[in-house]
Amino acid sequence: MTRSPISIVGVSGSPTHPSRTTTLVRGVTEAFADAVGGTATVIELAPLLGELGAGPFRSQLGPNVQAALEAVEAADIVVVGSPAYRATYTGLFKLFFDHIGQYALVDKPIVLTATGGSERHALLVEHQMRPLFGFFQSLTLPLGIYGSERDFENYEITSDDLKERIQVSISRTLPLIRSHIDPETYAAPATFARPDAF
Ligand SMILES: Cc1cc2nc3c(=O)[nH]c(=O)nc-3n(C[C@H](O)[C@H](O)[C@H](O)COP(=O)(O)O)c2cc1C
Repeated sequence: MTRSPISIVGVSGSPTHPSRTTTLVRGVTEAFADAVGGTATVIELAPLLGELGAGPFRSQLGPNVQAALEAVEAADIVVVGSPAYRATYTGLFKLFFDHIGQYALVDKPIVLTATGGSERHALLVEHQMRPLFGFFQSLTLPLGIYGSERDFENYEITSDDLKERIQVSISRTLPLIRSHIDPETYAAPATFARPDAF
């Protein structure tokens, strides 16, 4: 039986457009899609801000938010990203994930990404984002990707360091993702790239 292409869905929790976080999420989502031969879709939460405020229950939210929630729940791999706001993810990011089904992300591979004004809050990926997806019992992939404002110019990734981090994240997690999504085809032991920089 042929399997439908692996779907990779990115979620950018920035309330602004354009957004460095959206650039990063898009870059990582498309890079993962290229690597696994899958489809890439990016959901920006900024235009959904009004709809997300419609009420406390999912049934009260508008059709655009409903479609976004369903796309994330149906994805094979989810790439999440948020700007650092007051040393954590944005309220918008949390508001969206408050409406995701409690068990909809169990065992789902999640790639954690974030951007910030400086490197000072880079650990928000480990200290705030990873526990949130621990609640969902997701498979958060080992290497998070954080970019600071200096890594971007005109909302494009310009730093070689950040580009390399994306590639390292992919090469290290690809065997894990493949064996998780399609264990019969990818039963071989994983070989991880271990560059000195990490
Ligand atoms: C309200 C607000 C709070 C912020 N708080 C932090 C922070 O605590 N730490 C940090 O490194 N950057 C902080 N920043 C800077 C943003 O995280 C940074 O500019 C980010 O790259 C913006 O992403 P975006 O272009 O996707 O919106 C803050 C920015 C705003 C507007």
